[in-house]
Amino acid sequence: MKFSVKFGLLDMIRFKNLVNVRKRHIQEGASTPITVDPVNTLAQTLHPLTLDLVISKVTIETPSTKTFRLVSADGLKKVLPFFRAGQYLSIKTRVEGSAITRPYTISSSPNDALAGFYEITLRKKDGGFLSEYAFSNWNEGTRLTASSPCGFFYHERLRDTTEILALAGGSGITPFRSMIKDIVENGKNLKLTLIYGTKSPNDIIFAAELGELAQKAPEKIAVHVVCSEPDSCWEGPTGFLTAECIKNIAGDLKDKTVFICGPQLMYRMLDNELKVFGLPARRIRREVMGETADVTVIPGYPKDLATKTFSITVRSKGSKKDIPALASETVLVALERAKFAPPSQCRSGECGWCRTRLIRGDVFVNPENDGRRIADAAYGYFHPCSAYPVSDLEIVAPQGL
Ligand code: FES
Repeated sequence: MKFSVKFGLLDMIRFKNLVNVRKRHIQEGASTPITVDPVNTLAQTLHPLTLDLVISKVTIETPSTKTFRLVSADGLKKVLPFFRAGQYLSIKTRVEGSAITRPYTISSSPNDALAGFYEITLRKKDGGFLSEYAFSNWNEGTRLTASSPCGFFYHERLRDTTEILALAGGSGITPFRSMIKDIVENGKNLKLTLIYGTKSPNDIIFAAELGELAQKAPEKIAVHVVCSEPDSCWEGPTGFLTAECIKNIAGDLKDKTVFICGPQLMYRMLDNELKVFGLPARRIRREVMGETADVTVIPGYPKDLATKTFSITVRSKGSKKDIPALASETVLVALERAKFAPPSQCRSGECGWCRTRLIRGDVFVNPENDGRRIADAAYGYFHPCSAYPVSDLEIVAPQGL
């Protein structure tokens, strides 16, 4: 094979000028290192690490679901950091003396951030540490600290097809409300078919609003609700989101990217149901939904240890502290119970925010939430939010403790 490169007199002159321009810039530059990076400063202004927010409005969506509107806590109506529909906020708060964080998907549209607010929608879960507390204690005026929007559960034009099949279960509707609003409000050239699995008609969140949005842009948005325990008035499809149900509503999936958000049980069921469509893994996107509710059902978890309590020696700033840790709870929860305040965002092994080093002992890493880099796994680093103690441990305190 032959390559020919053309290089003429003009190129020579341009190159010569380039060298002179570069020399001049070096001469004009400061003789001391720059201490402020204007690009970083701009990035931190647009996307600060933490946001001080206050609840400005509470909307009761269903008997067990509330939407909280969050605005800047300084009292000024100002633009909040922009985000991509599908991202979440990591809410930081204190419950019973413990500092905890929980990721909540932003259910409002990206345009609403420019109007000065985010919305998050919480369903009260029995035994849900923060959801029960928030349901009873968060009101207008409650102040919260949150991360800037983060996460990877959004449509990416370079990676995803322009046709989206959104599969939602229960409160997993929240990112899709944001995506649908984004498509309709901004006239995005995307088609989204939502199949929303819910228990009873009373549990449907955003029912009227989703219907109105679909009517505004019928060529882009289609909304289907499937009830597993319908009442006598229900006329829509019934049952669960099986392969047959998905095929009846959405047809062939060959030109679609599937986005899934819902309870962990639904993810496992859909893993099986979607196999018949033969989609490559990159065309199925799952929202991270926090820690696994019951790790004992995860294949490979040593069930005989589930009721045991181990000891974790936490090394921090030259000192050591021993704390108890249940085998059925993550190392992150053990740290929080012991009143450490470990950094965390996704609580699903994805973001790496809680990453730290395991010095001694064994952990069970949930394969569904194992976001470690290969090198990290090889050199003993782990994510406490997706790791469960299966022996006594010694760890380095996560960064910042
Ligand atoms: S909090 Fe995201 S990886 Fe642990």
